[in-house]
Amino acid sequence: MNLSTNGQVRIDGLAKVTGAARYPSDEPVENAAYAYLVTSRIARGKVTRVDTTQALAVDGVRDVLTHENVGSEATPPPPQGAGGSTTTMESDRVWHDGQIVAMVVADTYGAAREAARKVIVVYDVEAPSASFDSPGAGYMPRQPSEHKDADVGDIDSGFSRATATIDAWYETPTQHHNPIELFTTTCAWDGDTLTIWEPSQFVYGLRASVAKQLGIDQAQVRVLSRFIGGAFGSKGGATARTAWVAIAAHRLGRAVKLVPTRGQGFTIVTYRAPTRHHMRLAADADGRLVSLCHEGWELTSRPSDYNVSGTETTARMYACPNIRTRVNVVHTDRNTPGFMRAPPETPYMFALECAMDELAEKLGLDPIELRRRNEPTADPVSGLPWSGRQLMACFEQGAQHFRWNARDPRPGSMGDAEWEHGFGCAAAAYPANIAPAAARVTRQSDGSVRVQIAGHDIGTGAYTVVAMIAGEALGIDPSRVSVEMGDTDLPPAGLAAGSSHTATISHAVRKACDQLIRSGSMEAYAEHTPASLPDDAMKKLHSGQMSIERGHGRKDVTSYSFGAQFVEVRVHRRTREIRIERMLGVFACGRIVNPLTAYSQFMGGLVWGIGAGLLEKTDVDERVARYTNDNLSEYHIPVNADVGRVEVIMLPEDDQATNALGIKGIGEIGIVGVNAAIANAVYHATGRRIRRLPVRMEDLLSEDRGAS
Ligand code: MOS
Repeated sequence: MNLSTNGQVRIDGLAKVTGAARYPSDEPVENAAYAYLVTSRIARGKVTRVDTTQALAVDGVRDVLTHENVGSEATPPPPQGAGGSTTTMESDRVWHDGQIVAMVVADTYGAAREAARKVIVVYDVEAPSASFDSPGAGYMPRQPSEHKDADVGDIDSGFSRATATIDAWYETPTQHHNPIELFTTTCAWDGDTLTIWEPSQFVYGLRASVAKQLGIDQAQVRVLSRFIGGAFGSKGGATARTAWVAIAAHRLGRAVKLVPTRGQGFTIVTYRAPTRHHMRLAADADGRLVSLCHEGWELTSRPSDYNVSGTETTARMYACPNIRTRVNVVHTDRNTPGFMRAPPETPYMFALECAMDELAEKLGLDPIELRRRNEPTADPVSGLPWSGRQLMACFEQGAQHFRWNARDPRPGSMGDAEWEHGFGCAAAAYPANIAPAAARVTRQSDGSVRVQIAGHDIGTGAYTVVAMIAGEALGIDPSRVSVEMGDTDLPPAGLAAGSSHTATISHAVRKACDQLIRSGSMEAYAEHTPASLPDDAMKKLHSGQMSIERGHGRKDVTSYSFGAQFVEVRVHRRTREIRIERMLGVFACGRIVNPLTAYSQFMGGLVWGIGAGLLEKTDVDERVARYTNDNLSEYHIPVNADVGRVEVIMLPEDDQATNALGIKGIGEIGIVGVNAAIANAVYHATGRRIRRLPVRMEDLLSEDRGAS
């Protein structure tokens, strides 16, 4: 069961490896000027003066945008989530370190950068709050929003009759996506028409946002994002920079290209918020849960209520008569967080799946057996049936393949003279989501077919999926299908996020192909709206608003992908160095359209899980609320030497209750639970329970860290 060779190689692979694929900043825009951002050196306060004299004197400098000269020309982008947004040059207010406070435009990149360093910004500084424990951090219960708390039964009654209980706190850090492609934007005006080249997970959404910010009609804006060099959520929502580049281009009467630095990418877009969790579990003598209580805290900016509320998933994992969840947001002087791979589940499942491991030990049960005893027959919150739930099948197949039974349950009992070895496991889950989309299919004179859909290939293989779905529907080889995506001139598709995109675009493409066959014509256009979405969902999509059918928000079934993660670590007895020996992820995610790229995507999730488990953390200087490791040399991610043997098993699953094509989505689930499986394996190896990510050797050296 090694590398899957079934499936279709990427149809855009040749273009990518030969350099023919044009990423947005590669577009050869004529006579472009270059922009360079000036970002705030304080985290909280006001800009009292901007002196651009020296900057404007640099040879080749054309313009310096500040709140004083362009502040009234744009409104802030609509926020992701509820609450307000942090402003940039719309006002003199500084909300966070690294906020855009000026933009220099010059004939060359070098001149723009030099001049940016000569812009003098004078601030009125206030003391910032950087994190959970900072004075002035604003703790608030999460406001009523799209996310819902669970209140089932009476948790106190469970705790009063429990045989074993767990009461523990868990913590996950700030993390940044760091896609290799930077957050570039190029804008060009042709009369009243604006063209934007920017890597985006939602071109229609970006168009709508920029049009609104600039007060122009959406029809005047075209957004192109044909290739995207990694996104992981960071290119999902519109950010402030785009409108300012558009304004700069308008003022200059010339195209303007912005390629921000990697460090600027830490503050001008979103990131994964740090979280805290209070988990309380109670079980009876048979190991059946009688109470589950999960309260979470998530950091956000001052005005935004952005939160991911992963309790919507942790409340549904296991059969339990008494469930209570709560989520709180904590306002600080930081940029607003956003989606990052498995936004809710990565942090929240860390807490639940570590707590389950702790509970299993207390009960003297194997962790897989504990999960088997708590396997629910229906969604424990709503009572709805599952569309398909193969969690235990994933655990059973995985246990066999991983040789889980070789595990001696006693912590610290395995290994050799030099290394302690430990096995850990954890469950993975992610809701099966789908959004509306439209597609056009056209027969070409040479017998090939062209498919047009404003979907997004963020490295996931979406181009190839479209070719495969169309080829299957029309009975032709995928090589006979050409695919156009990432352009607002094409029929709309939703945000490429939330593991929704393959299901979303496949249904629209399939419908258009079926229509082409039925009508016998040369061209067909079809729209697909998932059944439980409101009637206006398609209309909204055309205007750049997102509707999504969430697997845990449906009225008929609860629909999730499931998986089981297995990790073996070794920990050096003297240095406490933690190494990944091997990993296995087993997943049941409905129909897998392209096993070849799916395997890569799962494996990528597992490898990223090593980052989340052992390495990744954005450090914050508490005094000034500033990220200190905002670069790829100090923001640690796994390299090849950190990755042991990684295997993936995809269980066949036919889940027609999820949607007509049975596609549940795979993008996020690969990472879910890996961090918990690693922490559980480290516990098994060493007897040290580390409840704060990332788990690092210093946690195992000192006596006072870890156990909260
Ligand atoms: Mo994904 S983090 O929802 O782009």
